[in-house]
Amino acid sequence: MKRIAVIPGDGIGPEVTQQAVRVLERLQSTRDLELDFVHFDWGADKFLSDGISLPEGALEMLTSDFDAILAGAFGDPRVPSNQHAEDILLGMRRGLDLYINLRPVRLLNERLTPLANRKTDEIDFVVFRENTEGAYCGAGGFLKKGTSEEIALQEEVNTRRGVERIIVAAFEYAKRNKRARVTMADKSNVQRFGGDLWQRVFREVAAGYPEIETNHQFVDAMAMFMVLDPSQYDVIVSNNLFGDILTDLGAAIQGGLGLAASGNIHPGKVSLFEPVHGSAPPLAGKGIANPVGSILTSAMMLEYLGFPSESVEIEVAVRDAISANETTTDLGGNLTTEQAGSAVIARLKN
Ligand code: NAD
Ligand code: IPM
Ligand code: MN
Repeated sequence: MKRIAVIPGDGIGPEVTQQAVRVLERLQSTRDLELDFVHFDWGADKFLSDGISLPEGALEMLTSDFDAILAGAFGDPRVPSNQHAEDILLGMRRGLDLYINLRPVRLLNERLTPLANRKTDEIDFVVFRENTEGAYCGAGGFLKKGTSEEIALQEEVNTRRGVERIIVAAFEYAKRNKRARVTMADKSNVQRFGGDLWQRVFREVAAGYPEIETNHQFVDAMAMFMVLDPSQYDVIVSNNLFGDILTDLGAAIQGGLGLAASGNIHPGKVSLFEPVHGSAPPLAGKGIANPVGSILTSAMMLEYLGFPSESVEIEVAVRDAISANETTTDLGGNLTTEQAGSAVIARLKN
C-alpha cells in the first residue's frame, strides 16, 4: 500500500488533479496496485480565510505518513504576493530537500509541436533542474526602500553540495537510461562565481562517466538551440532559475504547458509530483484545462513508487488518446477536462 498526499491547490489545480486521481483509481481497481489518497486543502482559499499556508508540522507529517505527494498548482490573483504558493510549494521543495526537479520534454505526437518538420524522436530529453537553492534561496533585501535611491538586492546561493548532487543525478540518470550526452546550461560568462563553481563541478563529475559525452552551453544559446535543434539534447542540467525558464520552453516544443510533467525528487524520500504549469487563472473553473500534464505527472509518480509498467500504461493511454484527437482545445480537440480524463481512462487496458 502506497500513501499519497493529494494537494490540488489553486485555479486549474483541482480540476486537473481530479482527473489524474481518477486515472490512478481506475488503474488500481484492475492492477496489483494499492493506493491510499488523503486530500489536503492547502492553497489560496485556506490562506485567505484563516491565514494558513503550509500548516505547522506539515513537513514532518508528509515525511512520516506518506510515500509521495501529488500536487496541482499554487498561485491566485487574490494573493498578489504569492506568499502562500511560496510557503507551500517552495516550502516542500526546500523543507523536504527535494533537490531534483526532473522535467521530461518528450514529443508524443508530431502534430503537437509548433516546430516545423520534427519527428517524435527528435524532441526527447529530460531536464535536471536544481530545486533547493540558486535564485530561489529567498536571500536579499532592500536599502532605502521607497526612495529614489532605492536598492534591491537579490542573492543567489550555490553550494558545492547542492551543485554536485544535481550534476551527479543527471549523469546517473544518463548512465541508467543509456542517454549519450549531458549538457549543462549556465551563464558563467557573466555569473563569475556561481558559474565557476558549476563549471568546475561539472568537469569533475563528468570525469567519472567517461562513456557519457558532455557539452556546455550558455543558457541564452540553449534557449535558441532548443528551438532550432532540440534533437541534440538527451539530459540537460541547470540551476533552479534557468531550469524553470528552460522547462516552460521545453513544454512549448512538446505541445504546450498543458502536457508537461514534473517530479520534485529526493531519491528514497517522500517526493512531490506536480505538472509544470501553474494555476492558469484565465482557464480556472471553466472545465477546459488540459489534464494530461497532471496525468503524466501521476505516471512519473507511479514509476517513482516502483510501478514502472503501470506508469508506461498511462503514457501509452495518453499517447493513444492524443493520436485519436481526444484532447482538450489547447491541443486542437474539443473535449472538456473531465472528458479528456475519461478518454485516457477508456484507453487503459482492462
Ligand atoms: P500558467 O502555467 O499557470 O499558465 C500560463 C498559460 O499556459 C495559461 O494561461 C494557459 O494558456 C496555458 N496553460 C497552462 N496550463 C494549462 C493546461 N493545463 N491546459 C491548457 N493550457 C494551459 O502560468 P502563469 O499564468 O504565469 O501563472 C499563473 C499562476 O500560477 C501564478 O500565480 C504563478 O505563480 C503560478 N504558477 C504555479 C506553478 C506551480 O504551482 N507549480 C507553476 C507555474 C506558475
Ligand atoms: C514552477 C513554477 C514555480 C517555480 C513558481 C510557482 C514558484 O514556475 O514550478 O515551474 O518558479 O519554480
Ligand atoms: Mn515554472
